[in-house]
Amino acid sequence: MNNKNLLKIVEAWKGKRVGILGDIMLDEYIIGKVSRISPEAPVPIVEVEEEYSLLGGASNVANNIKSLLGEPILFGVIGKDRGGEKIINLLREKGIISKLYIDRNRPTTQKTRVIALNQQVVRIDKEVKDFISEEIEEIVFQNIEENIKEIDIFILSDYAKGVLTPKLTSEVINLIKSKRKKVIVDPKGRDYRKYKGASIITPNEREAQIAVNMEENFDLITCAKKLWDITKGEGVIITRGEKGMFLFEPNSQVFIPALSSPVRDVTGAGDTVVATLSLALAGGGNLLESAVLSNFSASITVKKLGTATVSPDELISVIPESLEIRDGWVFFKKNKE
Ligand SMILES: Nc1ncnc2c1ncn2[C@@H]1O[C@H](COP(=O)(O)OP(=O)(O)OP(=O)(O)O)[C@@H](O)[C@H]1O
Ligand SMILES: [Mg+2]
Repeated sequence: MNNKNLLKIVEAWKGKRVGILGDIMLDEYIIGKVSRISPEAPVPIVEVEEEYSLLGGASNVANNIKSLLGEPILFGVIGKDRGGEKIINLLREKGIISKLYIDRNRPTTQKTRVIALNQQVVRIDKEVKDFISEEIEEIVFQNIEENIKEIDIFILSDYAKGVLTPKLTSEVINLIKSKRKKVIVDPKGRDYRKYKGASIITPNEREAQIAVNMEENFDLITCAKKLWDITKGEGVIITRGEKGMFLFEPNSQVFIPALSSPVRDVTGAGDTVVATLSLALAGGGNLLESAVLSNFSASITVKKLGTATVSPDELISVIPESLEIRDGWVFFKKNKE
């Protein structure tokens, strides 16, 4: 694998259009200080000093694509509420194109963290995880169909919050494949049959384990093979946190180590993986090159706080001078920091 090729791929992906369908969420943060206990109940009183919201779930994937200088088009469902309005405003601020369905019957998925003294005091979740109705499935599908010509590659970002029903998931995969385009899936749950035909799936190790019911005697290669037997796509990537990732293709298997770096917050690393992977494939990279680039990207976001994003320049700065594949492992000579 050649360092120059990787740089070329990053250049080539600029402006590529990535469709994303999945569970859209709002990550809210309320930051304050505690100086006394409430007289009403034995709980601390947090005096709010700062409040902000970030795009989460599938909308964080879109945000990652934008930051990498791709062109995301986000599909999904939000509620008719304050959280939904915030998402629309954040998308507009960032210039992210979206085609969202507003469902009056479900709240926008929202996770609010209250932080005091650099510590989470409580997290408040608002969500309904039921599958969307058949009527909404149909509208979302038609929306994607109408825009399919504009799209170079597609991502399904499943957080099991109800948008990726088995029917919609499999119809979208079939639609994208019928246009000879690739579909990348960040999966969830126990039954991966709905992802059949997906070009690449990217579960983390825990998710992979659950999906193949291999809690005991876990073996990474066997597990990846079992997942591939379900999807029968181009490959399976199992992300492994600080250990990096494992790429399974029917004819080759490779371990890709993470770049070691001081870690601040691993939230959203998986979103950065699918975002980079899809752009790299759209930019002409093969699966191994694209996986390696996504691994570098994710190693950068974990150094940042919250659901973070990466720019092409930041990514380029960590691409090593030399990369080599030996005995099923990718080795790289690290750059001087
Ligand atoms: N501690 C770490 N050090 C370096 N890289 C990391 C670390 N944790 C994660 N990564 C990078 O991020 C990628 C994805 O991480 P992980 O396997 O934790 O995904 P995930 O569980 O889907 O993440 P999340 O659900 O938080 O988005 C890894 O393959 C690796 O490249
Ligand atoms: Mg994940």
